[in-house]
Amino acid sequence: MTGAAQSQSSPNAAFNPRVFSGIQPSGGLTLGNYLGAIRRFVDMQESGVQTIYCVVDLHAITVWQEPEALRRQTRELTAGYLAAGLDPEKSILFNQSQVAEHAQLAWIFNCVVRMGWMKRMTQFKDKAGKNAENASLGLFGYPALMAADILLYHATHVPVGEDQKQHLELTRDTAAKFNHDYGVDFFPLTEPVIEGTATRVMSLRDGTKKMSKSDPSDASRINMTDDADTIARKIRKAKTDPDALPSEPGGLEGRAEARNLVNIYAALSDSTIEEVLRDAGGKQFSEFKPMLADLAVTRLAPISEEMGRLMQHPDEIDRVLGRGAERARALAAPILARTYDIVGMVRST
Ligand code: TYM
Repeated sequence: MTGAAQSQSSPNAAFNPRVFSGIQPSGGLTLGNYLGAIRRFVDMQESGVQTIYCVVDLHAITVWQEPEALRRQTRELTAGYLAAGLDPEKSILFNQSQVAEHAQLAWIFNCVVRMGWMKRMTQFKDKAGKNAENASLGLFGYPALMAADILLYHATHVPVGEDQKQHLELTRDTAAKFNHDYGVDFFPLTEPVIEGTATRVMSLRDGTKKMSKSDPSDASRINMTDDADTIARKIRKAKTDPDALPSEPGGLEGRAEARNLVNIYAALSDSTIEEVLRDAGGKQFSEFKPMLADLAVTRLAPISEEMGRLMQHPDEIDRVLGRGAERARALAAPILARTYDIVGMVRST
């Protein structure tokens, strides 16, 4: 969070700093989710600011989810949050569907956002593909629900990976249009927080594509539940080029796969690209890949083990989510009520 974001000149000076973010339980957790999002969720939690992290199950069903798989993935993602260091005493952790205010505010925003804005969303175009006529209406309206997630808590900062930038811009546009239409200063203009070396972790099979839980090839990603052998095998087989690593970042120009592996190494070792190349410059991939595999296993194995342990106690996970939902509702309900008042909804007291 930058100092400027909290300064008096910020449009959000009237709002207390509050962090919100979410992840879809639409498949397993990937290394991209961990480095681009969860690890930074933990940093923000430790910075002492109020943090709210959601498992966005309503977003997940914008594309088909088997009910049993959705339930399992919701618990597994929560286990991932906990295993990576999110603490339900410090952060509010819950799943979106247990706080009905998300869907209620999303409806108001459906009436604020414009069709043209939605049509420009690259994620919709990517996900709907050539068959947009057959996509769910929920997938089209997805960003309005995301704006509702964030603005329902008057969140000022949202840590995300690079791919969510456009959705965050739409969230700001939604807040600005609502404030303008109703002549209020009610919603903050939320700042995206896209920082670090791993804001865009790429596929291990194609350095121009994002690492994604929906990629049909399992070899393209590291899953947080992969065991040590699987992680090592996937890194060994990762696509690379025949050249040695350069000793300066400029030498990674035009070498998407090499850059990706160096980025992952830097993120996992909490160092900069320059530092990694100072040590690894001149090495062949046959030498660098085992170093990366060792590092990845050392960093990820304790998390995946803890996830496995937590998954044996689904009742405890559900209790964490239930308690988090209560706390989230206590923050959300007054903001939704005030929104309804602004819009002109009558409510009996
Ligand atoms: P989702 O579930 O696709 O991804 C969750 C988070 O992980 C980040 N991420 C990555 N970061 C770096 N490299 C990658 N390869 C990579 N893949 C995923 C994403 O940027 C994201 O931060 N729309 C959101 C979920 C959402 C949300 C919200 C986020 C719903 N409501 C409110 C923030 C605030 C999404 O689909 O994330």
